[in-house]
Amino acid sequence: MIIAIAGQKGGSGKSTLAIHLAAEWSHAGHRVLIVDADPQGTSLTWSEVADENGTAHPTTVAVGESLRATVPELARAYDLTVVDCPGRMRSKRQLGALLCADLVVLPCGPSTPDVWALAESIDLVVEVQSLRPQLEGLIVLNRLSRTGESRAVADALGTLPLPLARQRIGQRVAFSEALAAGRGVTVNAPRSAAARELRGLAREIRARVAAGQDTGAMIHAA
Ligand SMILES: Nc1ncnc2c1ncn2[C@@H]1O[C@H](COP(=O)(O)OP(=O)(O)OP(=O)(O)O)[C@@H](O)[C@H]1O
Ligand SMILES: [Mg+2]
Repeated sequence: MIIAIAGQKGGSGKSTLAIHLAAEWSHAGHRVLIVDADPQGTSLTWSEVADENGTAHPTTVAVGESLRATVPELARAYDLTVVDCPGRMRSKRQLGALLCADLVVLPCGPSTPDVWALAESIDLVVEVQSLRPQLEGLIVLNRLSRTGESRAVADALGTLPLPLARQRIGQRVAFSEALAAGRGVTVNAPRSAAARELRGLAREIRARVAAGQDTGAMIHAA
């Protein structure tokens, strides 16, 4: 199962969600691979910090433009492969990720410009879905705070052509504190609101992909 965390907008939370989701699934006993497709190397750096601190973490590899050819092969040895994509939606790497993923997660920040940037990402996902109907998309509202703008954005996201995750992720310092410690938030601060939200999102994504695979198997068998 390959899950790409993608989207045009820099700083929307792609690496944050990729790392914490992968760490949570790994903590729950799954075999997890993180593919760092971003030259910034956020996920790879996190795994190096984890190594320095002696913390167990998912296997993390950097993959470049060969992503589309390399990742399906690598993913065979894992239950879950999480691809942390770079911020340019029409780059070869993002396209490569969309062409091999089962699910693409698009994090979206809580402001109107975030929703505007999301529109371009959605266009590309919908375009790829016309070639690969098995690709599922999911928008995740990230960095939510209690402002009116956040609520307005949540309402706007409900009208887009990709589903919006029921679980929303708040603006929470526990995410970056955990990253700095080379851990996932569900291990570093298991009772925090951030960990609760992340566990909810991890469950929701797994249920969605499992349901998609059942549907795919039924189509295949028919
Ligand atoms: N839910 C959150 N709560 C608090 N801070 C967050 C949250 N999500 C992301 N951040 C912070 O926002 C910044 C950008 O996040 P991140 O690096 O995950 O984004 P990105 O989409 O991977 O960016 P890029 O496009 O540059 O790769 C980081 O400082 C991160 O700690
Ligand atoms: Mg990133």
